[in-house]
Amino acid sequence: MVISTDNDQNSTCSPSSLRKISLFLYVIMLSFLSLQPSTTITRSSLFSYPRRRHRHSISPPPPPHFPLTTKTPFRHHFQIRSLDAAQTNHFETQIFDRFAKSTKLKIAIVGFGNFGQFLAKTLVRQGHTVLAHSRSNHSKIAQNLGVSFFPDPHDLCEEHPEILLLCTSIFSTENVLRSLPLQRLKRSTLFVDVLSVKEFPKNLFLQILPCDFDILCTHPMFGPESGKYSWNDLPFVYDQVRIGNEDSRAIRIERFLEIFKKEGCRMVEMSCAEQDKYAAGSQFITHTMGRVLEKLGLETTPINTKGYETLLNLVENTSGDSFDLYYGLFMYNKNAMEQLERLDMAFESLKKELFGHLHDVLRKQLFGKAGGIEVSGDRPVLAKLPVLEDRPVLSKLPKNGAALPAPADTVRIQNN
Ligand SMILES: *[C@@H]1O[C@H](CO)[C@@H](O)[C@H](O)[C@H]1NC(C)=O
Ligand SMILES: *[C@@H]1O[C@H](CO)[C@@H](O)[C@H](O)[C@H]1NC(C)=O
Repeated sequence: MVISTDNDQNSTCSPSSLRKISLFLYVIMLSFLSLQPSTTITRSSLFSYPRRRHRHSISPPPPPHFPLTTKTPFRHHFQIRSLDAAQTNHFETQIFDRFAKSTKLKIAIVGFGNFGQFLAKTLVRQGHTVLAHSRSNHSKIAQNLGVSFFPDPHDLCEEHPEILLLCTSIFSTENVLRSLPLQRLKRSTLFVDVLSVKEFPKNLFLQILPCDFDILCTHPMFGPESGKYSWNDLPFVYDQVRIGNEDSRAIRIERFLEIFKKEGCRMVEMSCAEQDKYAAGSQFITHTMGRVLEKLGLETTPINTKGYETLLNLVENTSGDSFDLYYGLFMYNKNAMEQLERLDMAFESLKKELFGHLHDVLRKQLFGKAGGIEVSGDRPVLAKLPVLEDRPVLSKLPKNGAALPAPADTVRIQNN
């Protein structure tokens, strides 16, 4: 496994020439990115690139301190190259190769379980250098994936990865983070997490990591199952929690996000708090319903409806995920408890409406049409209401989880 990077090859360069090269590459990158919409028509029609709306976008407009005029000659070269792509040994092709190399990242994955391995496959395929560490010995799997495995976290950190990608379970995250020898990392290291809860790792990072480290909290809304064949159109949610002022740091984040953009992910920038709120109302509810139905022991029948097939699918999909993940969604998302209670209230309310209606029907059978007068509050009301609705109207839970209206309020009484 080769771990060398451009930096190793350039190590004989003086710092100033290095800076010139990186400035040069940056300018080329700018012109290349700004060209994309006009020259790569086929590609943009294959993957619909999501609108950029992050704070540190590289694509136009570039940072104001990079004069726009300098990129004009490069833009010209690239236009020519894209029209005549056959010149493989051409000067511009070589520049392009160097540009491609410069976008490669050195990423260390800590926690090399199911999800870490899943991400590693794509990172390696895109040509990034991937290192891994895990408490279990996964060196065999790593080797097969083209990843260098380090059983000792000290060795991993001494490799000075640019990005440390935490792929631990929710529960082990704090212990793993506290056990990492952070002092062996470069001061500019970028920490990224991929947990399904967001405020928890954000606070943990802010609390434990030195101020020089950058922080990016992400939530790929897919996993080894749903993203098995393609990540196209799957949401990738992220929050740029802390990024130092240097351009190199902004560029690094862009390159990392580019990994997911390239795969066609739908990029969504959203604060960790907002993510937790949405996830409790969607992901947690989905898992809960799946597990409730699983406890019911649903079985396939010879006369399944489409809707029932959906339920069976849901059970199958959610039971595939570990209980630890589900428990983590509950424990480490402060909105989950409220959602669970609302679910409970909704079920109770539904039962009351059913039973209220039943009561009404029974009374009608007992007293026939004699009960022509209904008492609502203290005012007698003639029961000859127009029968517009044969079915009782089911009430909805108020959005904020406030007290429910009594079911009687919503069940229309039909007395004729
Ligand atoms: C890890 O596993 C590999 C083979 O699977 C083995 O060669 C190596 O010695 C193991 N390392 C440790 C630290 O157990
Ligand atoms: C379950 O997963 C499969 C495959 O990922 C997907 O096609 C299906 O829509 C999912 N069904 C439900 C109800 O979530």
